[in-house]
Amino acid sequence: ATAADPYDVVVVGGGPGGYVAAIKAAQLGLKTACVEKRGSLGGTCLNVGCIPSKALLHNSELYHAAKHDFKNRGIDVKDVNLDLTRFMKFKDTSVTQLTKGVEGLLKKNKVDYVKGTASFSSPTSLNVQLLEGGETSLEAKNIVLATGSEVTPFPGIEIDEEQIVSSTGAIALKKVPEKMIVIGGGVIGLEMGSVWSRLGAEVTVVEFLTAIGGAGMDGEVATSFKKILEKQGMKFKLGTKVIDAEKKDGKVFLNVEDAKSGKKEQIDADCVLVAIGRRPYTKGLNLEAVGIEVDQRGRIVVDDAYNTTCKGVKCIGDATFGPMLAHKAEEEGIAVVEMIKSGHGHVNYEAIPAVVYTHPEVAWVGPSEEDLKKQGVEYRVGKFPLMANSRAKTNQDSEGFVKVLVEKNTDTLLATHIIATGAGELVASSVLAIDYKASAEDYARVCAAHPTMMESVKEAMMAGSNAMGGKAIHF
Ligand code: FAD
Ligand code: NAI
Repeated sequence: ATAADPYDVVVVGGGPGGYVAAIKAAQLGLKTACVEKRGSLGGTCLNVGCIPSKALLHNSELYHAAKHDFKNRGIDVKDVNLDLTRFMKFKDTSVTQLTKGVEGLLKKNKVDYVKGTASFSSPTSLNVQLLEGGETSLEAKNIVLATGSEVTPFPGIEIDEEQIVSSTGAIALKKVPEKMIVIGGGVIGLEMGSVWSRLGAEVTVVEFLTAIGGAGMDGEVATSFKKILEKQGMKFKLGTKVIDAEKKDGKVFLNVEDAKSGKKEQIDADCVLVAIGRRPYTKGLNLEAVGIEVDQRGRIVVDDAYNTTCKGVKCIGDATFGPMLAHKAEEEGIAVVEMIKSGHGHVNYEAIPAVVYTHPEVAWVGPSEEDLKKQGVEYRVGKFPLMANSRAKTNQDSEGFVKVLVEKNTDTLLATHIIATGAGELVASSVLAIDYKASAEDYARVCAAHPTMMESVKEAMMAGSNAMGGKAIHF
């Protein structure tokens, strides 16, 4: 593309936000390029995030079941052993299959994939330092920034990705640590903590707040989730502040203090995972040169049509506001391009699910009870324990519950919170219901197959709906 014949859209970043935007743009007939500096598409999610962590979660669950649970189920397997090299290879294969798949999709949709690092030279032109050497310049009528996020560092604790790791090191450890400390009881801490705990590590999670789960998790769910993880062997130090870390004799020593009493303690481990959040990544973009503002937390400032403070430049995904989730970035990727093409695009931020892929999984859509109380909304709670669901009982996998929050006067479904095996799939119908502004009664009157876990969501809706008499059948 030259100044005389520019691209309609250049997307910077090939993660879930960026590659989806690029594909959608090309599908809408726009001449499109996608610049990615990693050497592989799919961004954080496919390369070092969602996908590799889920491959490890899945297989560590199988390993743990084979070692500790199969026998109870009448399945005798002898000598269950871990081959960590193959275990990691399996994960790497999952990643490559998907990143190559995305490359194929860009090709199929005729998106120009430019491998290199983009930097603004003007509001309509990007300089790209190519991975293969040299540079090129891309002219564009519209630029979409989807540069994602990076690990938030812990001041004074240096990540070496071997002994003191971020999530990137934690998905590639070369041996199972005897003792692991996780700093941060959020999503990464609980998912990666579960992986290494199932593989045999003694895992202690140190969390500054008094609850686990990170932002948005319902309080009752978080309390129950912690108990379940404790039963699985994970240890928690809540309300605890990490002060510093020291490496000595092949171990890491952490100085921590009780946030309330100030009582100090030293704890040690073979491996420390730092998982205290992520922050927007905009390094090297030369945002100042074109007047693109970022807020105090480094997020690129956008209006409700994703416009940055530089005309013609938009931003989506982890680099700007909102939850740092792959599916949120993907939704925005489609919306931003539809806005470019037609002036209209839409994401319903009230209906974005969140899932923690542990065993059991935790999933929710909509506000927590604490949020509703703060907002002064009058609501009803409908709850159904998995212990009363026939499928969960049959499988002897019945830890958890479904809890729905329903607006008192209108019966509108506001939120669904689930702890259950497969909660990530179970929550999908509530996302649809909330998006369609359904009432709890609407949901409760839809047939669920028997015996399925879905019946427990339907029953929670019955219990939450005034119009249904506020009662479940099986509990
Ligand atoms: P990214 O995926 O970060 O992609 C941005 C891309 O832009 C990167 O590849 C980067 O190399 C490239 N880039 C940056 N600057 C430039 C430049 N100047 N020029 C060219 N290229 C550039 N989310 C979920 O929804 N579900 C999960 O299960 C989940 N699990 C996760 C597990 C872990 C361990 C981690 C770390 C994250 C997880 N996430 C998960 C979060 C998810 O990965 C992010 O929300 C998602 O990747 C954001 O997409 P994005 O497109 O905004 O940015
Ligand atoms: P997080 O925000 O989920 O959790 C960080 C936790 O660390 C919080 O509980 C916080 O209170 C705690 N913390 C912060 N500073 C601390 C300190 N100094 N000492 C002790 N604890 C401290 O962030 P996390 O787990 O790093 O994940 C980053 C993001 O990646 C998530 O917010 C999410 O957006 C995304 N992600 C999503 C996944 C999913 O959808 N399944 C999986 C993994 C990551």
